Amino acid sequence: MILPEDMFDPEHFRTNGHALVDVLADYLATSQAGLGKVIDWKPPAIEDMNWQQALPLNAVFDEVQFLEKLRNQILPAGLAIHHPRNLGHQVATPLPMGALCDLVAAFTNQAMTVYEAGPAATMIERQVIRWLTELVGWHEAEGVLTSGGAQANLTALLAARQRVSDWNVWKQGVAAGPSLHILASEHAHYSVSRAAGIMGLGVDSVISVAADKNGAMHLQALAEAYRRSVAAHARVMAVVANAGCTPTGSIDPLREIGEFCRHHQLWMHVDGAHGASALLSDIHRSAMNGIELADSVVWDGHKLLYMPAAVSAVLFKNPLNSYAAFAQQASYLFQGESGEAEACNLGYRTLECTKKMMGLKLWAAFSLYGVKGLGQLVDKVFAGARMLAEKLQSTPDFEVMMSPQTNIVCFRYGEFDQSGIRTRLVENGGFHLTQVNVHARVWLRATVMNPFTVESDFEALIEAVRNMAKS
Ligand SMILES: Cc1ncc(COP(=O)(O)O)c(C=O)c1O
Repeated sequence: MILPEDMFDPEHFRTNGHALVDVLADYLATSQAGLGKVIDWKPPAIEDMNWQQALPLNAVFDEVQFLEKLRNQILPAGLAIHHPRNLGHQVATPLPMGALCDLVAAFTNQAMTVYEAGPAATMIERQVIRWLTELVGWHEAEGVLTSGGAQANLTALLAARQRVSDWNVWKQGVAAGPSLHILASEHAHYSVSRAAGIMGLGVDSVISVAADKNGAMHLQALAEAYRRSVAAHARVMAVVANAGCTPTGSIDPLREIGEFCRHHQLWMHVDGAHGASALLSDIHRSAMNGIELADSVVWDGHKLLYMPAAVSAVLFKNPLNSYAAFAQQASYLFQGESGEAEACNLGYRTLECTKKMMGLKLWAAFSLYGVKGLGQLVDKVFAGARMLAEKLQSTPDFEVMMSPQTNIVCFRYGEFDQSGIRTRLVENGGFHLTQVNVHARVWLRATVMNPFTVESDFEALIEAVRNMAKS
C-alpha cells in the first residue's frame, strides 16, 4: 500500500509536475495548430462504458501510468478548447499562465472565507476588484469574485432585493412585502430567472422585455413593462440589461436604460458576463457606454478575460451594497465587528464559504499582459466574428441574423434542418458549434473565442456546413 510520505513527497511532486507540464505543452501545441479533431464525439452511453471501473481499494496505476492515461485517454476524449475550430460555447481559450496560477491556487488551498485563511489571496482579490471597477468607470466601488456568472447574478439580485425592501426580507421572507418584479430582456441568461426562483419570488416575477431585431432591449417595451408592474402594485426590484446577451452577443442600450433607472430610482444590473471585457479594448470600449450608471455589474473572467473556469466578478458601485446580499451568524468565522479588518473577510459577500483563490490568475494576467495585452485578444475575436459574418453575408445560400456586436455570429444555411447540420458537424469532430432558437427559428451559433481562429478556418466552416447539409 502506498504510504502518506510518498503521497506528499516533494521530489515526486517536482518530477510529476515537470512531466505534467510537458504533457500539457504538447497538447497545447497540437490543439493550437489545429491538428486532430475538436471533439472525438462518442454518444454519452458509449463514453460512459469507457470509464466504468470498480472502486479501487488499492492503487491501480502509478503516477507515470496516470500521466500516460492523461496523455492518451483523458485529454483526447475532451473538447479541444485551444483548437482554432472550436467555435462552440462562450468558454475562454484559457491563458496557459492562468492555468498555472490555478495550480498554485489548488496547491495552496487558501480557503478565502476570512482574511486569515488567505491573507495574500484576499488582498490579490481586492486588487483585482479595484482594477475591474476602475475599468467600469467607478471609484471606490467594491465587489467580490464568485465561481461563475450565474452565482454572480444571484448575488447582485439578492443585494437589489435587500435594497428595495423596506421590511426585513432576509428574516421575514418575500411574502411579508409587496410582490417584487425584475424587468429583464427577453434574451437574459437563464440564471436571472433561476435567481428569481431561488429567491422565492417565482420565475413569473421576471418580466420579459422585448428586444429589437438586433437583439437590444426595446426602450418603449421597458417603459411599458414598468408601467404594467406599477399598475399591478408590484415593486420593481431591478432592471437587468445585457452587455453581450447569450444568444446573440447583442448589447442593450446601457446609457438609456441607466437614465430610465435613475429617473424611476430603480436598481440597474448589467449582466456583462460575456461582453464586459470590451472595456479592455480601445476599439470596442464605447459599446459599453453607460455601464457606469449601473448599480451592479457581472463580469466573467472565464469568458473574454481568457481565464480558466471558474472566475467571475460581481461589482457594486456603492461599496455598502457589496455586503447587502447575505447575512449570517457564524461566530466560528465572523466576529461581526465593523471596520477595515472585517471588510477583508470576503465570506460576508458571497454564497460560497470556502472558495478557490480565484484572483491570482486575473492578477497575473493583468500584471503580465496589461489591459492592452488582454484587449488585443478581445479585438482579435471581435474582428474574427465580423469576418465570419461578412463571409456568410456575401454567400447567397447563407442568412446572417445580424452583424455581430461582439464575437457571436448566428446564421442559417438555407431552409435545411439546422439542428441536423449541427449534430453532424459535432459528430464529425472537425468543428464545434452551438445552436439557438430566436424568434421561433433555429440558428447555428458560432462563438469566436480563440484569437488564433483565422480566415481559412471560417472558410472551412462554411464548406463544412454545406457538406453536412447535403450529406
Ligand atoms: C450573459 C451571461 N450571463 C451569465 C452567464 C452564466 O455564467 P456562468 O456560466 O459563468 O455561470 C452566462 C453564461 O454563458 C452568460 O452568457
